[in-house]
Amino acid sequence: MLLQVNDIHVHYGPVAAVKGISLAVEEGDFVTLIGSNGAGKSTTLRAISGLEQLSAGEIIFDGERINRLSADRIVKLGIAHVPEGRRVFKDLSVTENLRLGAFTRDDPDGIEADLEKIFTRFQRLRERKEQMARTMSGGEQQMLAIGRALMSNPRMLLLDEPSLGLAPLIVQEIARILIEINRQGVAVVLVEQNAELALELARHGYVLETGNIALEGEADSLMDNEHVRRAYLGI
Ligand SMILES: Nc1ncnc2c1ncn2[C@@H]1O[C@H](COP(=O)(O)OP(=O)(O)OP(=O)(O)O)[C@@H](O)[C@H]1O
Ligand SMILES: [Mg+2]
Repeated sequence: MLLQVNDIHVHYGPVAAVKGISLAVEEGDFVTLIGSNGAGKSTTLRAISGLEQLSAGEIIFDGERINRLSADRIVKLGIAHVPEGRRVFKDLSVTENLRLGAFTRDDPDGIEADLEKIFTRFQRLRERKEQMARTMSGGEQQMLAIGRALMSNPRMLLLDEPSLGLAPLIVQEIARILIEINRQGVAVVLVEQNAELALELARHGYVLETGNIALEGEADSLMDNEHVRRAYLGI
C-alpha cells in the first residue's frame, strides 16, 4: 500500500474536525473524498501533507510513518498538494511558479526536463510562460497550481476542489489532465464537492460526514448508492 491513514484525529483548538478517519491508497490508485461543507476533507489532506498535526492516529507513506515529519520532508518523499483555492504566487510568472514547485529537488537536469513536460501537457502555460499569475484566468491558475505540484515529481498528488468556480469546459480539461497524470503512474487523491465528477474519475471513494467516514467503496457502487444519490448527486 502506498498510503495508509490509520484512525486519524485532528483538532482545531477544542474542536474536532477529523474524528477517526482511515483510508488507503494503492500505488497508481485514483481515490476521491467527497462530502458536504465542513466534513473534514481539506483537513484530512492537510494532515497527510504535514500541514496539520494529528491528535491521534498515524499516517504511513511507502512503509514510513510520516505524521510528525515537516511538510517539506513530506514533499520530498513524494506527496504533492494542490490546495483549496489554488494559491499560486500571484506576483510571480508562470515559469517562476513552476520552478518553485521543484524547491525540494537538487537534480537540475531533471527539473528542466520536467518543466518541459509540464509545458507539453499544459499548452496554455507554455503560451503564458512569462505572464504574471495574477493576470491569469481561474482555470489557468488551477492548471498552474497542478503544474507546480507536479514539479516536485510526486508519486502521489492530493487535489483540493480543483473544479471549484470553473466553467464546465475547463473542468473537463482539468479532468482529462488528471486522468493522464494518473495513467502515468501518479496516485491521485481528489477532494471534490462535485461528487458526480469525482466518482466518474476515481476508482475508489470515501464519503466524509462530520469528521467521519460514512461510506466507502468502489466509485461505481457509490454512484448507485441510494444515500449518495440523494445527498450528493441530487438525484
Ligand atoms: N483553521 C481552522 N480553525 C478552526 N477550525 C477549522 C479550521 N479549518 C477548518 N476548521 C473546521 O474544521 C471542520 C472541517 O473543515 P474542513 O475545511 O476540513 O472541511 P471540508 O470538508 O474541506 O469543507 P469544504 O467542503 O467547505 O471545503 C469545519 O468544522 C471547520 O470549521
Ligand atoms: Mg475543504
